[in-house]
Amino acid sequence: MTDTLSTPTRSGAPGAPAVPTFAVISGEEVQQALKGHEKQLVELVETVYRLHDAGDSVNPPSYFLRFQDRPTSRIIALPASLGGPVHVDGLKWISSFPENVSAGLPRASAVLILNDHDTGYPFACLESSIISATRTAASAALAADWLSRNRTRPTRVGFFGTGLIARYIHTFLAGTGWDFDEVGVHDLSADSAAGFCGYLRESGGAARVTVHDTAEDLIRASDLVVFATIAGRPHVTDQALFAHNPLVLHVSLRDLAPEILLGSANFVDDVEHCLKADTSPHLAEQLTGSRDFLNGTLGDVMAGRAAPPTDRPVIFSPFGLGVLDLAVGKHVYDEVSRSGELRVIDDFFHELRRYG
Ligand SMILES: NC(=O)c1ccc[n+]([C@@H]2O[C@H](COP(=O)([O-])OP(=O)(O)OC[C@H]3O[C@@H](n4cnc5c(N)ncnc54)[C@H](O)[C@@H]3O)[C@@H](O)[C@H]2O)c1
Repeated sequence: MTDTLSTPTRSGAPGAPAVPTFAVISGEEVQQALKGHEKQLVELVETVYRLHDAGDSVNPPSYFLRFQDRPTSRIIALPASLGGPVHVDGLKWISSFPENVSAGLPRASAVLILNDHDTGYPFACLESSIISATRTAASAALAADWLSRNRTRPTRVGFFGTGLIARYIHTFLAGTGWDFDEVGVHDLSADSAAGFCGYLRESGGAARVTVHDTAEDLIRASDLVVFATIAGRPHVTDQALFAHNPLVLHVSLRDLAPEILLGSANFVDDVEHCLKADTSPHLAEQLTGSRDFLNGTLGDVMAGRAAPPTDRPVIFSPFGLGVLDLAVGKHVYDEVSRSGELRVIDDFFHELRRYG
């Protein structure tokens, strides 16, 4: 996974400098490179969190482009640079248009641009909704593992919001050895819940599947709760629902009232990133005027600097770091290159001689 290929160029005329190349990688190629490799991808994401924790990354704040005429939609730019064995710069550009779903299209669409470390030249554009879902799910599976190491390992998972991200998270949990007795499902849309149950049936597994009509029933029935809704503000407010101290993967970031976070142990992927954009941790900071409610980052847990308690709910709120997309995208690029199938656009960079 960390064996990366070097700078993409092809030789020019004799004596002339090598010409930078530019490749385009489709969603089908991305999926082929990633599918079935959940364990390796979780390892890759772990490596990236450790590099980020060691300061071997640049990950500035994401930029949110919002529209007055389309208030529920947004496009986010995530520029990033990653060192270590991956050694690449780039930009993820990801749209979220929730109304797409009722029109039969996924909510999110994205591209990822990879830039060469030495020349800055962009060398690839990849379809990136799959890369984004993959790195999100790999991060969730990694967090579920690390945050339950000194607690009773959950056996009853509940999916709160059952779209594409929930499906990827289930695939990554199953692909990294999680074996549940029960899978709970709750969604405002009966169609989404039914679609997710169909996926669960297709994917096999011996777990008993229950569709819960209420949020309360789902949370009470689960010792691992995965939030993957599109809620813009908190809608789960009753702390008593968490009295059984579940592990919560708060992937959609804005479902939980800040009071619930204040009664729990809280871990994030990156403090500066996560305490922004009206996420529940951001609301908790605004409510208390402090960050004392945070127990640490996942990097802190992996480095042994923080440990999840056993006597409170544990909540992981990952903002989603561009460095993860870069690492997964570079891995895809390397895999497609190795296969010999890389589609390079001829003469993409054209004006290469300074004086013509
Ligand atoms: N933190 C990260 O790194 C990260 C990365 C990618 C996606 N996400 C987030 O994951 C979420 C899910 O993404 P998706 O692509 O699966 O979206 P999606 O639109 O495919 O699915 C969302 C589902 O949530 C359901 N839902 C919405 N509000 C609900 C509520 N209050 N209660 C129950 N169900 C509700 C919808 O009916 C829908 O089925 C989004 O909020 C997205 O921003 C987070």
